[in-house]
Formats: sequence, structure tokens, C-alpha cells
Amino acid sequence: MRYGLRCMSCGAEFSPDEVVYTCEFCGDLLDVWYNYQSLNPDSLIQGWRMKPFGVWRYRELLPIRSRQVVSLGEGGTKLRRCDRLISWAGAKNLFVKYEGENPTGSFKDRGMTVGVTKALELGAKKVICASTGNTSASLAAYAAKAGIECIVLVPAGKIALGKLAQAIAYGAKVVQVEGNFDEALKLAIELSKKGELAYLLNSVNPFRLEGQKTLAYEVFEQLGMRAPDAVVVPVGNAGNISAIWKGFSELARIGLTDETPRMYGVQASGAAPIAHAFKEGLEEVRFVENPETVATAIRIGAPVNWKKAIRAIKESGGWAIDVTDSGIIEAQKSLARMEGMLVEPASAASLAGVRKLVQEGYIDRDEEVVCVATGHGLKDPNTIIEWYEKPLQAAANLEEVRKLIE
Ligand code: F0G
Repeated sequence: MRYGLRCMSCGAEFSPDEVVYTCEFCGDLLDVWYNYQSLNPDSLIQGWRMKPFGVWRYRELLPIRSRQVVSLGEGGTKLRRCDRLISWAGAKNLFVKYEGENPTGSFKDRGMTVGVTKALELGAKKVICASTGNTSASLAAYAAKAGIECIVLVPAGKIALGKLAQAIAYGAKVVQVEGNFDEALKLAIELSKKGELAYLLNSVNPFRLEGQKTLAYEVFEQLGMRAPDAVVVPVGNAGNISAIWKGFSELARIGLTDETPRMYGVQASGAAPIAHAFKEGLEEVRFVENPETVATAIRIGAPVNWKKAIRAIKESGGWAIDVTDSGIIEAQKSLARMEGMLVEPASAASLAGVRKLVQEGYIDRDEEVVCVATGHGLKDPNTIIEWYEKPLQAAANLEEVRKLIE
């Protein structure tokens, strides 16, 4: 199928076969477009059913020409119904899409399988990203599989231990930048201009987001070829919510559904420029200079995709809210203790968001809600050790242990 790049503001078009991340005329973000009219919905679905459940099942809607793709088996994650959580979250038809099941433990793998395949198509020998942790872990793994060099810039001391360990183990060159994520991203963008030094795989790269939109297709199939009423997503750099909305709106455009979900973005209170814009009714987002939250994955003050996120939320009829750190930890604990699902704090933000959205009347109790749990809980063990009950300790003595557990 034909595809290309188009600026979301001025409509300028760019070749998908050149290194270009943003509009060369107005500097705004780019979208990938397809020749949707050439797709027949019935044969599209028949084709899907013959392929394994995962990102590459939806190949017709991915901007890749190569037959050989860089894959670790990403996507195809479970959509778990959470009945025990009803009393806590308030939504009676609640599903959690558990992205921790991806090869490196987060949704980023959906984007990186496409992004790194694209990097090879463009002839890149090196890839780079700035990251709060998951992007770097994922890019490092896919670069390893592709046999190319990987550089990651992370905010020093502010990424979860598991993620740092992953990037190191997969062999990336890890640079801890003495600053926050927003500063690290500026450096990565500067270092990757025109792709000379390295190809940039942050979510400003529209090809990466194409991989991430497949979550929408999967949810649609998992619900029996239906879209849910609402999808709740944690928001940091704001790429994922935009990608998921693109997935659902494409399904409607192709003629596979008449219904699309309302998209809700959830940010941590200390890093909530988008939620703030909705609350205050602003047209533009005012960046937060010193973002702070226990959910380090979304500790972002200047979300690069804010315009796309606002477009997604408004077009879908949704909203954005913020949740406190203690609300995030409570949601994480509830999901772990009532459903046996351990997610990292940023992922729990979406669940804390569901509860608040129901309480505040944005989501009706009877509606079907999909909450996106973006990353695995084992990535950030330190937060659990710090915020939760301490384990008991006893001498190796029967009486003492019995006393403690009775
Ligand atoms: N949840 C997790 C676990 C994340 O790692 C991220 C982003 C998000 C949610 C937010 O997604 O940025 O598309 O709005 N992590 C990036 C990183 C920034 O570097 O790993 P977003």
C-alpha cells in the first residue's frame, strides 16, 4: 500500500524514504498517511486471521517495505478482565491491556520493532534516544537484534533500576545526563539532526508511533471486533495516546467500525502539563519546568507530542486528568493484590485515573473501559521496597517465626 508523511499543521508532504522527523517548513509533527481506499475491509480481516496475534499481523497498515523485519515477538498481549477491581475502581466492565508481557516488558517494543526496521531501511548504522527508561531498554534490545549501535541518554539517577540494567545488558552506550528527560531529549534531537550521527527513535519519530497504534487493533479484535467506550492511557511524552487513537480512527476510516472510544490521558500531578491545559481550558500546553513524580517513566514536563495528544483527546471526545503519587501507589497495590498483576507506577497511573474519571462522572460505571498498563512492575523494584510494608524478619527459630505469622 502507498504511504507517506504529512505535517499535522501545514499539510506539507515528505518522502518516507528520507530521514525526516518533523516538518521542514513549519517544524511541526508529522503523521504517516496511507491510501486507505485501496483496502477492502473483509479481505483485510481475513488476512489478519491467518497471521499470529501481534504487531506484524497488521502489516498492511505499517509503513515498512522490507520482508525481513527486526522482531522479538512483540504485541499480542492479553486483555484481562478485572472483576475483583470493580469495587475499587468503580467501573463494572474494566479490562487491563497488559503491555508488561512484551519482550522487554513495555509497550515501547511495538514501536521499536517498526522503528528499528525503518532505521535499517534508511541505512542507519546507529540509533539514539533519550529516555525515562523503557524506550532505552527497548531500543537497546532491538538494536542488538538488528546488529547496529545504540546510544541512550537517560536522566542521571532518575530511571528505574530494572530499565537501566536492561539498557546496559543489551549493550547500549548508556549516557547518564545530569538533567531531566526534557533536557536529554533536546540533546538527542540535536545529535540526530538529518540522521548524520544516528537515527532518532524517540516518539517524535512518526514511524515508531505506527507500531504503537497496533494496540488499538488488538483491543478491537479482543473485544470481538468492537471498540470499547473509553480507553485510559498514562501520558508522558504523549506519543502513545496519539498512536492508540490513530489506530482506532483508522479502523473507522477503513469501515471496520462505526464506533471509536473516548481517549483519556492521565498524568502524574507533578508532571501534568496536558491535564492542566484541559482543566484551565487552554489551547496551548504550558510546560512544567521541574517535573517530579514517583512514576519516573512519565516524569516529563515538555511532552514533545502534546499537539497530537490534544488532537486525539479532543477528536475522540475524551479528557485529561492528573493523579497524585499516593493515588498511583494505591492503584498499583490494588491491581497487584486484587488481580495478581504487577505494573510499574506509570502504568498504575492509568488505573488511578479510571477511578477518578468514574468518580468525577467522565466515565459511566456501566461503560466498557480499557486501561492500558504500559510496563511491567519488576522494572522498578525500588519503589515497592520504599513505599510498601517492610518484610518481616525473624531468627531461624520455630517459635519466633510462628509468633510473627500467627
Ligand atoms: N508508561 C510507561 C511505562 C512509559 O515508559 C511511558 C513513557 C509512558 C507510559 C508514557 O508514554 O511518553 O508515549 O506518553 N516512557 C518514555 C521512555 C518517555 O523514555 O521510556 P508516552
